Amino acid sequence: MSTGTFISFEGIDGAGKSTHIARVADLFRQAARAVVLTREPGGTPLSEKLRELVLHEPMDPLTEALLMFAARREHLVQVIEPALARGEVVLSDRFTDATFAYQGGGRGFDWQVLTQLEGMVQALPNHTLRQPELTIWFDLDPVIAAERLASARVPDKFESQPADFFAAVRDAYARRQAEMPSRFARIDAAQSMEAVGADVSRTVSEWLKRTAA
Ligand code: TYD
Repeated sequence: MSTGTFISFEGIDGAGKSTHIARVADLFRQAARAVVLTREPGGTPLSEKLRELVLHEPMDPLTEALLMFAARREHLVQVIEPALARGEVVLSDRFTDATFAYQGGGRGFDWQVLTQLEGMVQALPNHTLRQPELTIWFDLDPVIAAERLASARVPDKFESQPADFFAAVRDAYARRQAEMPSRFARIDAAQSMEAVGADVSRTVSEWLKRTAA
């Protein structure tokens, strides 16, 4: 089985996660670990093409969920599993919790169907599911996130959703955490950038100590 480390980063748009992922990569590099920085949807040439479609084209909710999982399957097979098998650290800017949060919570798509797709796409030969060992969830009030995004950039299909969409996305992240508490670490993303960064570094360091023990 794999000897690598798989960490995902999650949160509603505007929570500021991307800034902190590079810092986590540095933590691992300082410990002489090879790091693969990647993202979803995306991470392979085909998955990046699917990303373009899914972030910009209007489509049926099932089509959207299937494309997210299709991109994920390719990402797992081409990038994540090989890196973990080599013992590397995979840091993914979003993974499957985002589908539960956005397609499940935001869009209201059936949670059980998502669970079935997850079971199909993330199945391992030993019949367990590939999941991140640690998921850093940048939790933020959607009102604050919207203020941050307003000054940022041209919004994609999800970023232009109304505040109640993001409230539902946030609730769905909380539901995922409740379903799988052992791998989730919630970070209060309303704090200053420095305080969030310190929380993230502490969380990863403590997690590493715990899992090495
Ligand atoms: P994001 O990760 O925020 O990237 P960027 O910082 O470049 O905008 O954008 C990805 C968007 O895709 C985000 O709005 C969440 C959405 N998404 C889903 O709806 N479902 C998924 O399964 C994933 C991985 C992402």
